[in-house]
Amino acid sequence: MNQPTTDVTDPQPAREVPADVRVGVIGVGKMGADHVERLTRRIKGARVSVITDYVEQTARTVAATAPGSRVVSSPEELIAADDVDAVLIASPGQFHKDQAIACIEAGKPVLCEKPLAMNADDAYAVVLAEARSGGRFVSLGFMRRFDAEYAELKDALDAGELGTPVVINCKHRNASVAEGFLDEMMVYDSAVHEIDAINYFLEEPVVEVQTITPTPSENALEGQHDPMIFLFRTRSGKIVTDELYVNTRSGYEVRTEVLGSRGIATIGMNVARVTTQLEGGRWGGSVPADFRPRFRDAYDAEVQAWIHAIEDGSNIAARSAGVWDGYVTAATCAAAEASLTSAGFVAVELRERP
Ligand SMILES: NC(=O)c1ccc[n+]([C@@H]2O[C@H](COP(=O)([O-])OP(=O)(O)OC[C@H]3O[C@@H](n4cnc5c(N)ncnc54)[C@H](O)[C@@H]3O)[C@@H](O)[C@H]2O)c1
Repeated sequence: MNQPTTDVTDPQPAREVPADVRVGVIGVGKMGADHVERLTRRIKGARVSVITDYVEQTARTVAATAPGSRVVSSPEELIAADDVDAVLIASPGQFHKDQAIACIEAGKPVLCEKPLAMNADDAYAVVLAEARSGGRFVSLGFMRRFDAEYAELKDALDAGELGTPVVINCKHRNASVAEGFLDEMMVYDSAVHEIDAINYFLEEPVVEVQTITPTPSENALEGQHDPMIFLFRTRSGKIVTDELYVNTRSGYEVRTEVLGSRGIATIGMNVARVTTQLEGGRWGGSVPADFRPRFRDAYDAEVQAWIHAIEDGSNIAARSAGVWDGYVTAATCAAAEASLTSAGFVAVELRERP
């Protein structure tokens, strides 16, 4: 009897090769194009499948950099597309509410750039939509939670290394901002990062905020305030200061200092990766031009963690902000904005968590 031979043409059991998560990107201006580049070149397990932008030519230009992607003419079409498993929203903040709710209703995980909305009611509408869905779909683009220095500071606080924190001092500086960057955007687009950092580090809400402004810098837009100084008081009485100055003309800088009962920790001091000593006795380094080089690794870590969370079915990475964080930050922004035109501290009104 012939011995059975191994037939090399026998079909082998199919090996499960995980398919890439197909991501649709809404809005491919500065931030969206940056996300398309990272999803295409650096993130494992994902690719950009569909792109849309209010300006179609912008969508076409960015799609040309993402092999295999196609352009559609509206966010609704993108969210409904069969070749979109997950959505990244990087349109301006006033569109986030409707686009995020559409993703929830389509049952698709979404990484929504901050802010969740430009007012507390709209943010709460997204909270309710997710609660109604019975699932968890929305991660919010507070990428600082994924920055190595932020994560190290958070872990030190959680381990009690600094004792009880009593004061946090934050500084947030941009070289310049786009034309039309109004006071509202100073609060909802910029200070919102520090407001989320309060949630992240202290895990307690802000109960009141006061915004004070010096005579505006000559670089501030006509009728707008820059810099702004915010004073936040949290539920247990901790104080957080935030100095926001978006027209420094120098570069991008984000610093955080935590004063605790057993020590002080500071992050964001070493903005220059290389320092130089040059002829003439000059010494120094360079400041990042904007947020992209400063937080490039954090954005990569954030998007990679999001893709992993989609792969494992949890949809939202452990460190990530979700809709409730988005609502709390929007409600705090509303009080900070109201404080621009009223005296003293303004209370933060928080609705019930569903
Ligand atoms: N996480 C961060 O650090 C960070 C940094 C910068 C910007 N952002 C956020 O990213 C978002 C986009 O900011 P940006 O700086 O890229 O702005 P941008 O103006 O450069 O880009 C926005 C793009 O969206 C398009 N667009 C406008 N309305 C749209 C709509 N209804 N649907 C689809 N596309 C639309 C515009 O044509 C533009 O191409 C904002 O929410 C902003 O706050 C986050």
